[in-house]
Amino acid sequence: MSSGLVLGIESSCDETAAAVVAHGHDVRSSVVHSQIAMHAAFGGVVPELAGRSHVRETHRVIAQAIDEAGITPNELDAVAVTTRPGLIGSLLVGLSAAKAVALRHDLPLVPVHHIEAHVWAATMEQPHAQLFPAIALVVSGGHTDLYRATGPGELERIATTLDDAAGEAFDKVAWMLGLAYPGGPSIAREAEEGDPAAFRFPRYRPKPPAGGGTRPLGFSFSGLKTAILYHIRGQDALAATPAPEDIPRRPDVAASFQEAVVDALVVQAIAAAEEAGLERILVAGGVACNTRLREKLHAAAAEKGLSAHFPAPAFCTDNAVMIAGLGYPLLERGATAGLGVDASPR
Ligand code: KG4
Ligand code: ZN
Repeated sequence: MSSGLVLGIESSCDETAAAVVAHGHDVRSSVVHSQIAMHAAFGGVVPELAGRSHVRETHRVIAQAIDEAGITPNELDAVAVTTRPGLIGSLLVGLSAAKAVALRHDLPLVPVHHIEAHVWAATMEQPHAQLFPAIALVVSGGHTDLYRATGPGELERIATTLDDAAGEAFDKVAWMLGLAYPGGPSIAREAEEGDPAAFRFPRYRPKPPAGGGTRPLGFSFSGLKTAILYHIRGQDALAATPAPEDIPRRPDVAASFQEAVVDALVVQAIAAAEEAGLERILVAGGVACNTRLREKLHAAAAEKGLSAHFPAPAFCTDNAVMIAGLGYPLLERGATAGLGVDASPR
């Protein structure tokens, strides 16, 4: 009888993570070493520093995940590892470590796509529910995409953003408002004291085709970002941006900005589900932590007879539970790779 235990390793960006998950959903351990504090001084991830930090932390993080799961490596069934997309130098650190564990303990190696794993995380709360097929909304620092998700690791992209990702918009607007990096949690915190209807900032929607017909799906956050910039420094394009403490009604600005992002995400996710005739919406990525997004999407979905599914907050941002989790159905499907498998930034 197989134990169904998979070790997952994630190092695609600024988190070094390892986890042990049984049968794709039963979490036995999860260790995440975040580099946020190191990158905060630069206002974003510095790839060179990220790679070096992964080198320092990977061994310890993997050993701790195995230890906390209360197992020995030879009880594992497989090693799953993120091979794409991400920062190439960072990916290679996790992949080399995964190969070493696989070789040492004679385990199959399962390459995992980071975005597909984010989506899997949204299905883990209800392990026995059949959530596929569904619409998947992936909202992170690097992605704002809608997919048709037909099964574990099966995504077909149907829409994306013309410019910034939603998380990137949170990060940049937080910077304008003098709030700490990463911007998502800081804006959400500031917004708790503010009125989401205080200011009406633009919500982008693609135009319907000239001859009529269905409106295409898609996102854009650059207009919103510019609107916030003009709101805080006035209409004079040459005026200096005021110091954060001089921005009037900062909580109202944060709440109204958050509301505009959330509305755009909700409208598009619901439209995608209705158009595709799918009843379930899976939401994943760092921005899926956002409480306002959770509330508004659950409410909008319920109104249309649809349902929305989010990962537990700890499994929205980068983690290895999602890698070990998706690794299991991929292993069952025989989607393993030899030790020659490479990483890819795309
Ligand atoms: O998925 P993730 O950890 O990393 C990427 O793969 O990008 O997502 C990080 C992004 C950051 O832009 C961060 O500001 C955003 O997720 N984020 C949030 C919240 N928590 C994290 N955005 C809005 N509300 C939050 N509570
Ligand atoms: Zn991610």
